[in-house]
Amino acid sequence: MQQLGWTVLRELEERDLDRIAGWDSDPELAHLMGGVPISSEESRSRYLKMLRNRNSLVMAIVDRSGGLIGDIELTEIAWRSGDAELSIKIGDPAYRDRGIGESAVREMLSIAFEGLGLRRVYLRVCSDNPRAVRCYKKCGFRREGVVRRRLGPDDQIRVVTLMTILRSDFMRFQAVS
Ligand SMILES: CC(C)(COP(=O)(O)OP(=O)(O)OC[C@H]1O[C@@H](n2cnc3c(N)ncnc32)[C@H](O)[C@@H]1OP(=O)(O)O)[C@@H](O)C(=O)NCCC(=O)NCCS
Repeated sequence: MQQLGWTVLRELEERDLDRIAGWDSDPELAHLMGGVPISSEESRSRYLKMLRNRNSLVMAIVDRSGGLIGDIELTEIAWRSGDAELSIKIGDPAYRDRGIGESAVREMLSIAFEGLGLRRVYLRVCSDNPRAVRCYKKCGFRREGVVRRRLGPDDQIRVVTLMTILRSDFMRFQAVS
């Protein structure tokens, strides 16, 4: 892992939501996320719901000086089974490909497994997003299967990969990498 030398996550606050809404309206970013661009009202309401929901955890990804550059989420937290879904975006392209995604995912997995006591974290990634797939593999996620889905504004058929990591694998992976 690239050693960035700073904590890349902090709690997300309401003052971050305007910046995030700007990213959520970007068609290119929405395509990478397998979704569609949304309005600032929709974005704001989605994040406010997550901030109030005990079955989600959303954190801000910050640069060296603490400025917001993205966000990372655990949603669908099932406390009984110990499962949750992870999703991440680095909104500013200048900050991609610098190891920040890997650090953010590892920090979030540490919160999930060591802080919240979860057992399994899964995610869905479009297979035509090789940077994201590579980032998740670097963090110890394994491919579980693929499904073809109609996604995006024009219902394009895309291959979506399900990737998962278990707490036991994360602990082992952290120890050796
Ligand atoms: C996906 C994302 C979180 C990854 O974070 P990141 O900081 O860019 O990723 P990292 O720098 O930690 O790792 C990226 C890896 O992909 C590799 N990579 C980049 N482009 C690639 C490509 N076209 N093909 C294969 N590998 C690629 C990089 O070389 C790096 O691997 P390495 O460390 O072995 O050299 C970030 O790029 C992002 O938010 N992108 C936009 C939104 C998005 O795609 N979210 C994920 C939706 S599932």
